[in-house]
Amino acid sequence: MTSTVKFHVEDRIAWVSFNRPDKRNAMSPALNRRMLEVLDELEFRPDVGVLVLSGEGDAWSAGMDLKEYFRENEAKGLGATRAAQREAYAWWKRLRWYQKPTIAMVNGWCFGGGYGPLYACDLAIAAEEAKFGLSEINWGILPGGGATKVVADLVPMRDAMYHALTGEMIGGAKAAEWRLVNEAVPLAGLKARVTELAKVLLTKNPVALKATKDAVRRVREMTYENAEDYLVRAQEAANSFDNDGRKEGIRQFIDEKSSEQTG
Ligand code: ACO
Repeated sequence: MTSTVKFHVEDRIAWVSFNRPDKRNAMSPALNRRMLEVLDELEFRPDVGVLVLSGEGDAWSAGMDLKEYFRENEAKGLGATRAAQREAYAWWKRLRWYQKPTIAMVNGWCFGGGYGPLYACDLAIAAEEAKFGLSEINWGILPGGGATKVVADLVPMRDAMYHALTGEMIGGAKAAEWRLVNEAVPLAGLKARVTELAKVLLTKNPVALKATKDAVRRVREMTYENAEDYLVRAQEAANSFDNDGRKEGIRQFIDEKSSEQTG
């Protein structure tokens, strides 16, 4: 049986992809289960510094599998629906707080439930040719599974409202303009751009990366005072994890810069 998730590690980058191209990488319960296993396997591997999430074929992910995730579980009853939701939400949450920095490489269709893992990745680079849609309204449902929260968090209110109410698709450039993704590049250059970005992340202190990515997500919901306090404590906690890395970083900045200035 073909695996629903593909992955390989090359030069400290874990390339993970949805692997149901015939179904436009729709997220079935089997895929959700497998993705959590793959994330588990890669998270603390010393040869992995960055994780990239992409899709096989011409889709990133067409969202939840309308047949296997929705219809088949609904037929079995509420317990089956809740179990399927737990599996999907579990890996998205795992990805939101992943140990390594993550990049969504959006190579094609990205719909509905696909916004969950899109948001879970720290950074997102899309192909200009990719298409994004909150198509739920076309199916007579509201964008659930976190999708409305993702759009309300990332996109200005008027654009978020338009996107959710019309169900119209937007391209990669518009998704970048709306800040659903960091930037859009031509599909032909997508992997090169993502590799370049991953290599930048690989030069950073991994303890500082994890502390920083968590901080960016956490402080959004805090008052200034609470954020200030959280950040002091987060830095102190990171220091105790990796004092040498921090000292070396500061030493390089002060000593090497001062030697450059004087030398
Ligand atoms: N769930 C289940 N199967 C899907 C899904 C999905 N979300 N998306 C595509 N597929 C399947 C199709 O049923 C079809 O299967 P088949 O070959 O066995 O008939 C196959 O993938 C190919 O789909 P096509 O529609 O033929 O592919 P095309 O390239 O023409 O269009 C597109 C791609 C635009 C992604 C289209 O498939 C589509 O609109 N899919 C639904 C997207 C969507 O609305 N997702 C949100 C679901 S709701 C939610 O996530 C909360």
